[in-house]
Amino acid sequence: MNYRKNIMITGGAGFIGSHVVRLFVNKYPDYRIVNIDKLTYAGNLANLKDVENMPNYVFVKADICDFDRMLEVMKEYDVDGIIHLAAESHVDRSIKDPFTFARTNVMGTLSLLQAAKIYWESTPGGYNGKLFYHISTDEVYGALELTAPEGIQSPFTTTASSAEHHLAFGTEFFLEETKYNPHSPYSASKASSDHFVRAYHDTYGMPTLVTNCSNNYGPYQFPEKLIPLFINNIRHRKPLPVYGKGENVRDWLFVEDHARAIDLIFHKGRVADTYNIGGFNEWKNIDLIRVIIRTVDRLLGNPEGHSDSLITYVTDRAGHDLRYAIDSRKLQRELGWEPSLQFEEGIEKTVKWYLDNQEWMDYITSGEYEKYYDDMYSGR
Ligand code: NAD
Ligand code: DAU
Repeated sequence: MNYRKNIMITGGAGFIGSHVVRLFVNKYPDYRIVNIDKLTYAGNLANLKDVENMPNYVFVKADICDFDRMLEVMKEYDVDGIIHLAAESHVDRSIKDPFTFARTNVMGTLSLLQAAKIYWESTPGGYNGKLFYHISTDEVYGALELTAPEGIQSPFTTTASSAEHHLAFGTEFFLEETKYNPHSPYSASKASSDHFVRAYHDTYGMPTLVTNCSNNYGPYQFPEKLIPLFINNIRHRKPLPVYGKGENVRDWLFVEDHARAIDLIFHKGRVADTYNIGGFNEWKNIDLIRVIIRTVDRLLGNPEGHSDSLITYVTDRAGHDLRYAIDSRKLQRELGWEPSLQFEEGIEKTVKWYLDNQEWMDYITSGEYEKYYDDMYSGR
């Protein structure tokens, strides 16, 4: 079959990548979706069981740092679009092992860019109709202060279209123009990869796009990240390790809303531009943790307050960014995107999914997981 587009999605077996692959494979039967994933501890083909036999889906197990292999795959599948999600993504791991983050996030991105450059420049149309779309994070912007005006209650949520701005935790937001100021090895590696992507546009004329998104939550997230980790620990009656005082603030977006934004931007975004993607949904960690506890207890039929005593304050994350808050109004204004789910609905769906998919969780947390957990949390 002659496909209308051949899109390489890197990191498609990971959390966000699997939602992007699922959306594209189902929505665009006339596109061929080539999922490139090394299947690190974070990549799991069980995340894609429902699409693995679709005729327009191909999986290739490969390392994005392997330049020759990337060039080969691009040629073999006539790749004309790349949506690049493959990365090392967990801040705590980056603090313990920064080299792996530089290798994958910086050198891996560079290897993909150079392979795309060589391949696309060799095709008859050159860069015409091609796009290298890089998925990045709000963490590259650094951290914001907590400057909430008196009298505003937290949590406070609103939609991007609301005339009233979100002032629960502060008046400042990350804009597309905000200067990069990364603090962790993870965010420094993502910032570096963003710069390389933009450099390939400015130097070689490659059509590129970068988006910077806030914290995602939803099904299929590896249980090293706050929400699935805490749901799983509550189920096993294990302590809930709250870093520092639990006062840090994150802006949470349902993962399917991120995937929808990626679809929209891939098709309609302005080349060489940047879009911020966020939920307008800031939560102080400890407030979010209480919502998770309440929801898990209710869905498991336990009385309210049953799991409160699992909360355990532990040593803070080194260099822990205080607050992230994305202003995604440019994306709303120019392309009409908005988060579709209210947080209450999203968190209910998410907790329910993890409780209903215990087999998935048990599979993910077998093997190396216990060792990771002990290394990361013992002595904290
Ligand atoms: P994840 O850790 O769940 O998945 C990463 C995937 O990349 C895994 O499938 C892994 O096997 C694969 N991978 C890692 N190294 C590879 C390599 N060298 N070659 C090929 N594949 C490799 O990550 P995620 O949370 O889904 O994040 C995806 C992307 O989105 C990342 O670039 C991340 O920086 C960005 N992002 C994440 C969030 C979030 O809240 N999770 C928010 C904003 C941006
Ligand atoms: O903002 C986008 C980023 O969000 C992405 O780029 C990253 O890939 C993604 O991992 C996420 O980073 P965070 O560090 O914000 O997510 P994490 O789930 O690790 O932590 C969320 C908050 O909860 C953070 O303030 C640290 C805190 N925390 C986390 C863990 C794992 C705890 O208090 N205890 C924990 O055990």
